[in-house]
Amino acid sequence: MKNYTNGVNRREFIKSSTKLAAATMFMSLGSSKIYGAFMSSPIANSIETVTLNNGLKIPILGFGTLSLKGTLGTKCVAEAISLGYRLIDTAKVYGNEEAVGEGIKLSGIKRDELFVTSKLWVDDSGYENTKKAFETSLNKLGLEYLDLYLIHRPRGDVKGSWKAMVELYKEHKIRAIGVSNFEASHLDDLIKHSTIKPAINQIESHAFFQQDPTNESLKKYGIQMEAWAPFAEGRNGLFTNQTLADIGKKYNKTNAQVSLRWHYQRGIIAIPRTSQKAHMIENLQIFDFVLDKSDMQSIAALDMNTSQFPEWK
Ligand SMILES: NC(=O)c1ccc[n+]([C@@H]2O[C@H](COP(=O)([O-])OP(=O)(O)OC[C@H]3O[C@@H](n4cnc5c(N)ncnc54)[C@H](OP(=O)(O)O)[C@@H]3O)[C@@H](O)[C@H]2O)c1
Repeated sequence: MKNYTNGVNRREFIKSSTKLAAATMFMSLGSSKIYGAFMSSPIANSIETVTLNNGLKIPILGFGTLSLKGTLGTKCVAEAISLGYRLIDTAKVYGNEEAVGEGIKLSGIKRDELFVTSKLWVDDSGYENTKKAFETSLNKLGLEYLDLYLIHRPRGDVKGSWKAMVELYKEHKIRAIGVSNFEASHLDDLIKHSTIKPAINQIESHAFFQQDPTNESLKKYGIQMEAWAPFAEGRNGLFTNQTLADIGKKYNKTNAQVSLRWHYQRGIIAIPRTSQKAHMIENLQIFDFVLDKSDMQSIAALDMNTSQFPEWK
């Protein structure tokens, strides 16, 4: 983020706080491998931010945590934060909010430097349930507020959930509220019945399902698009795709980096997930090259305009 203070002080702060945190983790997990695993220097000192429709700033590149559970989840989140990630994306249904919260604590980074998202699962829809589910998520994460809370899917009593979220937002327990996997009809319905518009719609987006028309309609509403599965989880051969590889060759970048740069140049927030430190680093190294018009056109031509996750419909 651009508004970071003095880089040297911050590095020193990270160094001393991660040492302390690592010692705690070492004691609680009893593994010297894990102890050493996230003692890293930041790769990105400042990730650019996007301003949401309520003025809140969110990093344009973050860290996804789907399936990163238990000690692996804790280690990955702490490692990602130590490398420079500040936006962490979790959800009740991932079953890892405690692990993510532990990773946040171990990172030693101040709460107000982080941007933490969680999501309301469909089983918890409705006014009362949403209030309870939110408190449970907050407690599991060990946090006093969330930066972003999303309705995970447009199922159940969406309006009741939204009413509860608006109240929590007004009570300053959530800094921005939004939705995920909402189509135009769901958004129309929600917006008609509320004074507060969602700040974000988190949807599937990658080279094979780009969602440009959806992004255009979101822009009209003033809603920011955020891409889940920015690599399509590697489906349809994304990491070996020849078009992406040919573009990457010009800049000495991988298919993953070309993909993330493409999201960035479209102004889309991306939250790639990885369990590997090398990939965490690689995925941060996207701010030192620029895709030109013909690169962007070649990637646009990869759009199949269809989900790679039909089983999640
Ligand atoms: N709102 C929703 O409904 C929804 C749905 C799905 C996901 N999400 C969120 O979006 C996040 C991202 O989506 P995702 O986790 O489904 O998929 P993704 O980020 O598209 O892909 C993750 C896969 O990419 C691999 N990978 C990461 N970096 C790599 C690199 N540099 N080179 C090669 N492989 C690499 C990872 O393997 P390694 O671990 O081996 O690196 C992992 O298998 C999730 O974690 C979650 O937070 C939200």
